[in-house]
Amino acid sequence: MAEVNSVRIVEVGARDGLQNEALTLSPETRVQLLTRLADAGLRTLEAGAFVSPRWVPQMAGSDQVLKQLPARAGVNWTALVPNLQGLEAALDAGCREVAVFVAASEAFSQKNTNCSIAESLNRVQAVTARAREAGIQVRGYVSCVLGCPFTGHVQPETVAAIGASLYESGCYEISLGDTIGTGTPASTKALISTCSQQIPLHALAGHFHDTYGMAIANIYAAIEAGVRVFDSSVSGLGGCPYSPGATGNVATEDLIYLLDGLGLKHGVNLESLIETGVFINAALNRKTSSSVARALLTKKVMGV
Ligand code: HMG
Ligand code: MG
Repeated sequence: MAEVNSVRIVEVGARDGLQNEALTLSPETRVQLLTRLADAGLRTLEAGAFVSPRWVPQMAGSDQVLKQLPARAGVNWTALVPNLQGLEAALDAGCREVAVFVAASEAFSQKNTNCSIAESLNRVQAVTARAREAGIQVRGYVSCVLGCPFTGHVQPETVAAIGASLYESGCYEISLGDTIGTGTPASTKALISTCSQQIPLHALAGHFHDTYGMAIANIYAAIEAGVRVFDSSVSGLGGCPYSPGATGNVATEDLIYLLDGLGLKHGVNLESLIETGVFINAALNRKTSSSVARALLTKKVMGV
């Protein structure tokens, strides 16, 4: 939960970002990325995923990443897990918080996790029960909340019911994932209004992919609706390997610029974040997807 005049950011670049890049980075480079992001002021960072390396090879070695990350006061290194096997591996690697995920579309659930929504919810129950025993926190994602890449429209009521089920299972926060970025401010507002009838507003987070360039507009709509937690990835890295055509998350740099403009506190140093973006783009041989980073780097080159 975040205060009304501040926003909590969940940096997902090292997981959601890197899982969809052509190059697979070494655990050492991923650790460097994560420590630089923490140095820039980010406090909750998804560091990897304990999923099948056959399904997502880019996340292989997440155990080494988690083991190599330095313990830091106030910094929460987390990891994505699809099932009990993933949770046990995360616990072995010293993880103190995990995230589970369930799709609001049957077709996407099958493509992404090879099981139905109902089976996925059963897996979550098993994960939350074991996590409780181990004394660690669980965050929940619902994906395809504003559209499915295979079947199109998704009902807000379906999202709310799945989110409520995750919340009742013990997830402390429900991150609403616009996996394919088709949401608009109007559909975002309607979704939050429906979800907040079943899940407390303070336990809702927004996870917007920027495929249609709507992510910042959707975040603004969500802020107006009272949401104060957002997921983002440095430089707008990311996408989902099982969602054809989906591009990255909203860039953390763009989110910070928006929050600054709105006078909302966030604790992140934009300059260090942009430098971290330069670092990771060089490692991946790609260009930034952040409009703010592009603009400020151009100004720097021109000496203005
Ligand atoms: P499956 O093939 O049905 O699994 O995959 P299975 O239980 O039949 O086991 C088959 C093999 O996988 C076995 O190995 C298991 O040991 C292994 P084998 O005996 O053949 O050598 N296995 C595992 N290995 C490592 N870690 C595990 C694990 N579980 C089983 N945890 C499974 C099912 C769920 C594992 C697979 O479908 C999978 O890993 N899917 C993950 C896909 C993924 O990571 N997608 C991206 C993340 S979700 C996302 O990006 C959306 C989000 O950002 C929100 C949004 O944007 O909306 C969160
Ligand atoms: Mg995502």
